Amino acid sequence: MPFEKIVLNDGRVIPQIGFGSWKIPKEVCTGEVEQAIDVGFDHLDTAQTYRNEEEVGQAIKESGLARKELWITTKWSGTDDKGPAQSCSESLEKIGIEYIDLYLIHSPRLCKGDIPGTWKQMEQLYKEGKVKSIGVSNFKLDDLKELLASCSIKPVVNQILLHPYVIKTTTPLLEYMAKHHIVAEGYSTLIPLTGAPGGPVDKPINKIAERLKVAPEQVLLAWSKAKHAIIVTTSSKKDRLERYLAVGDIDLTEEDVEAIDHAGAKGAKWYERQTEGKSRRAAKFAAAGVLGVYLLYRLVSAI
Ligand SMILES: NC(=O)c1ccc[n+]([C@@H]2O[C@H](COP(=O)([O-])OP(=O)(O)OC[C@H]3O[C@@H](n4cnc5c(N)ncnc54)[C@H](OP(=O)(O)O)[C@@H]3O)[C@@H](O)[C@H]2O)c1
Repeated sequence: MPFEKIVLNDGRVIPQIGFGSWKIPKEVCTGEVEQAIDVGFDHLDTAQTYRNEEEVGQAIKESGLARKELWITTKWSGTDDKGPAQSCSESLEKIGIEYIDLYLIHSPRLCKGDIPGTWKQMEQLYKEGKVKSIGVSNFKLDDLKELLASCSIKPVVNQILLHPYVIKTTTPLLEYMAKHHIVAEGYSTLIPLTGAPGGPVDKPINKIAERLKVAPEQVLLAWSKAKHAIIVTTSSKKDRLERYLAVGDIDLTEEDVEAIDHAGAKGAKWYERQTEGKSRRAAKFAAAGVLGVYLLYRLVSAI
């Protein structure tokens, strides 16, 4: 059975798996998005800050598909200090479309302490018909509570980090969202494979993959599906994209999901140490770079 369509709280129907363009270099972006569309993806996820909306738009144009055959999400990322209205107009132009299916506030940080006022601007874009649905991304429980206390139109989704090592801390947010009919869009679900291999989640993932004769990445995406999330993923490889779409046919048992959740909770602290270690190393590397440039500057000035 292929992926189901998910009905949002505004009545619109969104495909349950989307192809994202984060980190795809401009030079290869059009080709990779075209490949995803050819394989069967009908839901594309981009953002102002990914700086490849034009290339995504080019792929859409070259696909020859009618506009209504594709679901297109982009995000207001506050790039160059531009507000939602200006950013939305620019995204429409860059992608080359008349309307955006789903427009998201990329992070609550962009609201600069005024979530209600910022959301009003999103509601205005919705009323003008430039965007068909509106939502948020990276909103924590308190951010969503603040938004729901003042909004006239509810966000349809909250696009969030969703993988087994964060499931324990994210469950209260997921429960609150389910209660208010806000669908989770889960990104970076493959982190146990890509960013933090070697942790406790590997064992149940590999065991389930072996039993079902599928790839580990398919088990992780099937886990996200079991959480009723919309999957936002990506790949530069055709065979992997085909495997992602085949996840529509992979159903985990309750025991499978419990085993993955349990391993994720067990490894949560280990995962935090991994990511903290990585950001510390990145900060040290950046500091060393700045120091190097400064010393070079002093050396050149002294000559
Ligand atoms: N709202 C936000 O703040 C936010 C943040 C992050 C992401 N997103 C959205 O979510 C999308 C997906 O994010 P993501 O890239 O973090 O997602 P992901 O689905 O966790 O990872 C996708 C990556 O995993 C690699 N991969 C897949 N299977 C693998 C395996 N078995 N071993 C090693 N690598 C493997 C793929 O590489 P190959 O190309 O080699 O297949 C691809 O680059 C983004 O493009 C963006 O649209 C949104």
